[in-house]
Amino acid sequence: MRTAALRNNNSKKIDTYRVMILDDEEITVKRLLKGLGAAKELRVEGFILAKDALEEMRKSPPDIIISDIKLKDAHGLDLIDKIKVNSRNTLIILMTGYASIDQAVKATKKGAFYYIAKPFSIKELRQTVSEAIELIRSRRQRNMIIDQLGREGRLGEIIGSTPEMLQIFKTIKQIAPIDCNVLIKGETGTGKELVAKALHLHSKRNRHPFVSFNCGAFTEELIANELFGHEKGAFTGANSTKLGLLETASGGTVFLDEIGEMPLSMQVKLLRVLQENTIFRLGGTTPVGIDCRFVAATNRNLDKMVSKGAFRQDLFYRLKVVTIALPPLRKRREDIPALAVYFAKKAAKKFGKPTPRIGNDFLDAIVEYRFPGNCRELEHMVERAVALSRGSRLTTEDLPPDLWLLQEPQKQIKETASLRKLEIDYIMDVYKKTGFNQSETARILGISRTTLWRKLRRFNITSRKQLP
Ligand SMILES: Nc1ncnc2c1ncn2[C@@H]1O[C@H](COP(=O)(O)OP(=O)(O)OP(=O)(O)O)[C@@H](O)[C@H]1O
Ligand SMILES: [Mg+2]
Repeated sequence: MRTAALRNNNSKKIDTYRVMILDDEEITVKRLLKGLGAAKELRVEGFILAKDALEEMRKSPPDIIISDIKLKDAHGLDLIDKIKVNSRNTLIILMTGYASIDQAVKATKKGAFYYIAKPFSIKELRQTVSEAIELIRSRRQRNMIIDQLGREGRLGEIIGSTPEMLQIFKTIKQIAPIDCNVLIKGETGTGKELVAKALHLHSKRNRHPFVSFNCGAFTEELIANELFGHEKGAFTGANSTKLGLLETASGGTVFLDEIGEMPLSMQVKLLRVLQENTIFRLGGTTPVGIDCRFVAATNRNLDKMVSKGAFRQDLFYRLKVVTIALPPLRKRREDIPALAVYFAKKAAKKFGKPTPRIGNDFLDAIVEYRFPGNCRELEHMVERAVALSRGSRLTTEDLPPDLWLLQEPQKQIKETASLRKLEIDYIMDVYKKTGFNQSETARILGISRTTLWRKLRRFNITSRKQLP
């Protein structure tokens, strides 16, 4: 029997999605072609034999394939492997008359996007296809962002292409050459030190030192000694004159990290330095002129500290001539793919490995994660994945197990509950709240639908009736 491809005629659209239908019953193929063909954004082709579909796929992979699980010349589960070889990014929707969860789990384990039990309505199929398209669309957008990386999506080592980050890049370039003090605010791991370095690199001071000082790591005496140095004989053990950090950084930039941790008594001394640009070495009586630019950083709310009297207002105003507020990573999720690519490259270089590509499943999982540790946490996660990965592509297997479980900060962790119990409870919670919508549940949990399916199966949550 000749199995010429049957096509609808929406092939001239620009932002279109190519869908292949494969079923050994011609009548089914025709019904689905008709049912989906009406959608303007779809270019649908029908096949009756797997070999024809595969041949076509080798020439040009479709975005979606909707296939029967039992075909004349192939079995759907084997087909998945073949499709994956020809086109890794094609989303597979399997249909079957022998609905069984086992088959579904096998199919999703092998990488099917969805499993739909016959008989189904065209409406149901359309719904599934539009979910698949939503995923493809977000992947396309992500790839575009990755492509842009290297053009405007970065400033030196700082990656970002969201409007907030682009604005920050602009501010850095504008204020770097002006010698004003800058206060950088942001949660841990958002890149405060990176921004401070960028300010230095874009300034006239870039041939001089960039010196970083952690204001929280020392007692008041040690801070004074570190910053101002001491004269010979200033205290027991001061056998020679020691230059302080502010003197050694002469001409350059001093990065005062964790400025909110600086003891109040030390704040007065620092204020004087900022006002007069001179210091006294410990035990010294002659003022020494210094020439530094000050960039301070904090992850604390300095405004609040000022109002409570825990931070000096005058020093606060001196430091924040310009403020740069770095957004947390969860508020700029669009940057996650580009950051992941960048970190993968960085880690590969560090480990002397070839740079792996990043699988879509890997990206799907991380773009939804909350990242309380922001970019640093993402960097560690990717670095770990690169270290563990044996292939040329990072997949969810390379992510920490139960990544998604870490996402729920509000959840009260009961000491007595096992992780498994918490996992089940939480999945049920979300599943119920979404009205048993699997796509939505997977999205909220930050896992792929395939993973959700596997978990539902593993925990025996096979239908809504079984939920308490
Ligand atoms: N936008 C970014 N692009 C690329 N790398 C980034 C970005 N933001 C942070 N990083 C990387 O994340 C790590 C943490 O950044 P950094 O030390 O600057 O954060 P921080 O805000 O100073 O954190 P903390 O408050 O904990 O000191 C670094 O390895 C840095 O290179
Ligand atoms: Mg820091």
